[in-house]
Amino acid sequence: MHLFSYFWLLISIWSCLAAAPPRTISKRGNSSFVSSSEDGFSVNGSSLRFVGTNLYWLPTLESNDDIWNVLKNISDTGIKVIRIWAFNDVEIIPGSGTWFQLVQDCTTTINDGPNGLQKLDTVVQMAEQQGLYVIMSLTNNWNPVPDITSSGTPSRDVLISDTSPRNTLSNDYGGMDLYVRQFGLQNHDDFYTNDKILTAFQNYTKQIVLRYLNSPAVFSWELANDARCNSTLPTSPTCTTQTVTKWHAQMAEFIASIDPNHMVSAGTSGFQCTDCPKLYPITPRASPTPTPSPAPGKKRSRVTPLTEEQIIRQRAGTLKEDGVLMKSRWASTATREVSSSICSTTDGSYGVDSQDILNIPNIGFGSFQVFPDQNTYAPNDPNLDAVHNKINSSLAWIQQSAQFAAAVGKPLVLSAFGLVTQSNLNSYVPFNMTCAPYASSAAAMGVTAAIMDATTTTNFANDTQQAQGYGSFLQMGNSAGLGGSMQYQWGSTGITQPGTAIQLDTTNSSSPAAATGDSPNDGYSIANSTAVQQILQQGAQAMAVVS
Ligand SMILES: *[C@@H]1O[C@H](CO)[C@@H](O)[C@H](O)[C@H]1NC(C)=O
Ligand SMILES: *[C@@H]1O[C@H](CO)[C@@H](O)[C@H](O)[C@H]1NC(C)=O
Ligand SMILES: *[C@@H]1O[C@H](CO)[C@@H](O)[C@H](O)[C@H]1NC(C)=O
Ligand SMILES: *[C@@H]1O[C@H](CO)[C@@H](O)[C@H](O)[C@H]1NC(C)=O
Ligand SMILES: *[C@@H]1O[C@H](CO)[C@@H](O)[C@H](O)[C@H]1NC(C)=O
Ligand SMILES: *[C@@H]1O[C@H](CO)[C@@H](O)[C@H](O)[C@H]1NC(C)=O
Ligand SMILES: *[C@@H]1O[C@H](CO)[C@@H](O)[C@H](O)[C@H]1NC(C)=O
Ligand SMILES: *[C@@H]1O[C@H](CO)[C@@H](O)[C@H](O)[C@H]1NC(C)=O
Ligand SMILES: *[C@@H]1O[C@H](CO)[C@@H](O)[C@H](O)[C@H]1NC(C)=O
Ligand SMILES: *[C@@H]1O[C@H](CO)[C@@H](O)[C@H](O)[C@H]1NC(C)=O
Repeated sequence: MHLFSYFWLLISIWSCLAAAPPRTISKRGNSSFVSSSEDGFSVNGSSLRFVGTNLYWLPTLESNDDIWNVLKNISDTGIKVIRIWAFNDVEIIPGSGTWFQLVQDCTTTINDGPNGLQKLDTVVQMAEQQGLYVIMSLTNNWNPVPDITSSGTPSRDVLISDTSPRNTLSNDYGGMDLYVRQFGLQNHDDFYTNDKILTAFQNYTKQIVLRYLNSPAVFSWELANDARCNSTLPTSPTCTTQTVTKWHAQMAEFIASIDPNHMVSAGTSGFQCTDCPKLYPITPRASPTPTPSPAPGKKRSRVTPLTEEQIIRQRAGTLKEDGVLMKSRWASTATREVSSSICSTTDGSYGVDSQDILNIPNIGFGSFQVFPDQNTYAPNDPNLDAVHNKINSSLAWIQQSAQFAAAVGKPLVLSAFGLVTQSNLNSYVPFNMTCAPYASSAAAMGVTAAIMDATTTTNFANDTQQAQGYGSFLQMGNSAGLGGSMQYQWGSTGITQPGTAIQLDTTNSSSPAAATGDSPNDGYSIANSTAVQQILQQGAQAMAVVS
């Protein structure tokens, strides 16, 4: 972009500032519902900082005793918040297993029977009894089109040609692409813009939200997991960060209009767009801010907000003051060429501007994710091995994300972090796929050639490195002032009646669909890792200490 047009863009953004609505988050919550303020989360007037975990599969377990025991084990670890899928969309009614909503030929039908929303009721009730809060995610960006088997039925192919049961993978619960397909549309981003889909999704949202309107166990309504312009279906050329931000604003406003009790959160991966025009420009805060002195024992370490441009230059390794100071905010004079050398995590290429989304008045807190096996957060340091590069770049991403959120002045949660281990590699299914490319039986199934080879195994963490990495993520999250950090994904080997959510045996190509009886594992399960469970426990204690 030419320097002058960039300048005028900034001017026009500034001129919008006066019209920007005030932040609506409360100052200090004295409510039994969790609320957020500049100082973080609070419940009943006490602050809440937490370690959490992810287990999208929990409501699909057949036995309520299993649900109870899983939650009890989590609670015993000192974990305070869990994140689950509060959606489970199907295109045809399955023969067995849990499902919440049928989306078919432009119509939707809720299942509130015992294998429907009553399962979600059980989870929310039991979580409350265990002192846990639940982040309820309402849809998913990812739902790769299932292969059609020879019998003509769609299957979730963890291995090609295999008719595996539903609910095995995080992307196996319906979501945006399923709505798009069933409403006869073509593009992923139609989900954000099509009126009929918006109405249908608001309809689903309303039924879920009103069902738990008075439950203090609901931490927040998370609008979508990992929303962005791209997914498996194509993206139209008109999808921009503003498309995605606008959808979040519409949905947040909708929920706020029917639920005064709970926070709304976004659930994006935290991708930014430093140069994009904003729908919710940040109001420059009077500096120095005369902040009221915090109550004794309530002081928290805070991150100094850097401007976006400072972050860019810091990442480029040159914090040179080569910009124009405008109303205490640095306006970069950097050219597009400079910006395009920045990682895709901050240049808007995902169609997500998490900072703009965070500044939507009805969004209570920010979220981001750390999946260095699937995303690149920083250029590789040639002196480090693959695993240490993953860990180092993740630490930088945590810091950077905290700075983006600090500029808005709302709390930030690391809603999912995970490192794929060598011992989990067999089961690892990337979020945008339905096959396990590293499975030992994959070669026999014709998968390997398409994707990877076994020599890359050492690019993945061993169990010790995973535990150490998680320890450093939690520490960095704590010192960067995050409101919470949530590991991905909880695992259990003690489930007695797995229902349809079971881990597949990816080691046996003769019997790919045979279930092991463990909880699902996308490559991140900690079912067998007492080391990680201990790290989470220590992290939870450290977070709970309000320094
Ligand atoms: C918080 O609410 C309770 C019950 O409504 C009330 O008794 C208490 O005084 C309130 N505390 C503060 C600090 O406002
Ligand atoms: C908050 O206060 C209410 C009312 O006194 C109580 O029922 C609830 O258990 C409290 N919540 C927490 C997390 O302490
Ligand atoms: C809203 O959901 C209900 C219950 O599933 C369904 O009967 C109704 O058709 C839906 N309405 C719209 C407009 O999607
Ligand atoms: C997003 O989708 C568009 C169109 O389908 C494609 O051109 C672009 O490369 C995709 N971007 C990413 C980051 O995958
Ligand atoms: C990167 O990793 C190395 C070795 O693990 C460590 O010494 C260094 O401090 C890390 N750098 C950053 C920026 O975290
Ligand atoms: C999944 O995402 C990765 C990383 O963005 C990309 O390299 C790969 O091509 C994608 N696979 C599919 C099937 O879309
Ligand atoms: C994990 O990898 C590190 C670095 O290669 C190595 O020093 C360590 O012994 C390994 N630990 C295990 C348990 O394999
Ligand atoms: C709970 O933890 C215990 C002790 O580690 C384990 O034996 C049991 O299988 C776990 N139960 C579930 C359902 O995860
Ligand atoms: C693989 O599955 C087949 C069919 O169920 C079974 O006969 C065989 O024993 C299994 N092999 C292993 C190594 O578990
Ligand atoms: C846990 O360990 C057992 C025994 O080694 C193994 O069979 C199982 O697949 C492992 N489960 C997970 C989720 O890693």
